[in-house]
Amino acid sequence: MTESSIFSGKFIVVGVCGGIAAYKSVELIRYLVDAGAHVATIMTPDAEHFIGKTTLTALSSEPVHTSLWDDQSVIPHTRLGQKADLIVVAPATARLIGSYAAGISSDLLTATLIATRAPVVVCPAMHTEMWEHVAVQHNISVLRSRGVFITPPEEGRLAGGDVGKGRLAATHSIVEVMTQALQPQMGNGSLSGKHVVVTAGGTREPIDAVRVLANRSSGKQGHAVARAAASRGALVTLITTVEMSPASGITQVQVETAQQMQEAIEKIAPSADVIVMAAAVADFRPVPIADGKWKKEDGVPPIVLEATPDILAGLGKIKRPGQVLVGFAAETSNLVANAQGKLERKNLDLIVANDVSLPEVGFGHETNAVTIVSAYDEPVTVDLASKTTIAQRVLDSVEKSLHRIQEHT
Ligand code: PMT
Repeated sequence: MTESSIFSGKFIVVGVCGGIAAYKSVELIRYLVDAGAHVATIMTPDAEHFIGKTTLTALSSEPVHTSLWDDQSVIPHTRLGQKADLIVVAPATARLIGSYAAGISSDLLTATLIATRAPVVVCPAMHTEMWEHVAVQHNISVLRSRGVFITPPEEGRLAGGDVGKGRLAATHSIVEVMTQALQPQMGNGSLSGKHVVVTAGGTREPIDAVRVLANRSSGKQGHAVARAAASRGALVTLITTVEMSPASGITQVQVETAQQMQEAIEKIAPSADVIVMAAAVADFRPVPIADGKWKKEDGVPPIVLEATPDILAGLGKIKRPGQVLVGFAAETSNLVANAQGKLERKNLDLIVANDVSLPEVGFGHETNAVTIVSAYDEPVTVDLASKTTIAQRVLDSVEKSLHRIQEHT
């Protein structure tokens, strides 16, 4: 299942509010149409100050809707609200967020939001002061508590040359949250009742009070596995060095170092049915950690490294019957042979091998390509695909292993 197949054939309403980020809706609409969705766009009257109706009509699947009163349909808000498989508002202004939280339908977009039972993704964009205002934050938590998906704004350049938090999230982040919003409808509950523990991100090992030894892991692959497991009905604990936007069914534990990750996972490992170690755990850490900050004037510091504990190998030693233990292997050569060696040495059921020397594969990318090596079955290769797709294929193999282990215990 690719991301495009998730959107393919879906009726998606894109709401565009009046803010400078309105021009970015062009990219989102084009992405969704290319992915096979039918896109109906609603512009608020203010949005028309920032972007032309003709532009969005040309890109959408039907003429843009702007008003409750001049639409061909008599009751456009209920038609759009009922037909929608998903509604995304990008950008969403403080006014829209406030009206939606208060249930006030003052225009076609807010009326449609209130007239729908479809999942809704809200993507705020505004100046930092507005985003941080207590009223806006309150309204955001009200929406979250009602199950609305929020794609948080990012740090960066804002209108008027200011810099700070409030910039509309990148299109790929919005698409990721939309994918997540659609998945519970598609999930088959096949992991319902299972406790799945996932690790994600790169550990950061302190050198002194301000510097760390880190790696390039973004946490995206592990987060995708956590979301995919939750969408299949699992109760998920995500142990991560990179915060993920909150998602239902997922409890997050934030850690920084290999030692913190080890302590967190060893506490919950006994209750886990499945453990997936997608994190890039540092193999070495500085010792001792310098007190305070190394001064430049004192010259190049003599950094000594020691090996970190191999968390996965430790989990392999205490694996209980019926538990499925999954590692990832970041390789640059002899992909399957090296991964097979790790699978055997660490007593794993599965290992997901990625050749991180290839373009668009592994660290930091939106995509990955993997070979899933199993202790019981033939390897399964998944060609370059979104990390969401890779996560789904990994969970297919996890489910196969769970069934096999259950049959033999
Ligand atoms: O986070 P992204 O930017 O999305 O990138 C994804 C990824 C490239 C990080 C991911 O796909 C991946 O390959 N994760 C494993 C990276 C890694 O540490 O590989 P490794 O071959 O060095 O380790 C093998 C396994 O042992 C891994 O499951 C690792 O979590 C585990 N390990 C390693 C060292 C250690 N001290 N303790 C461990 O548990």
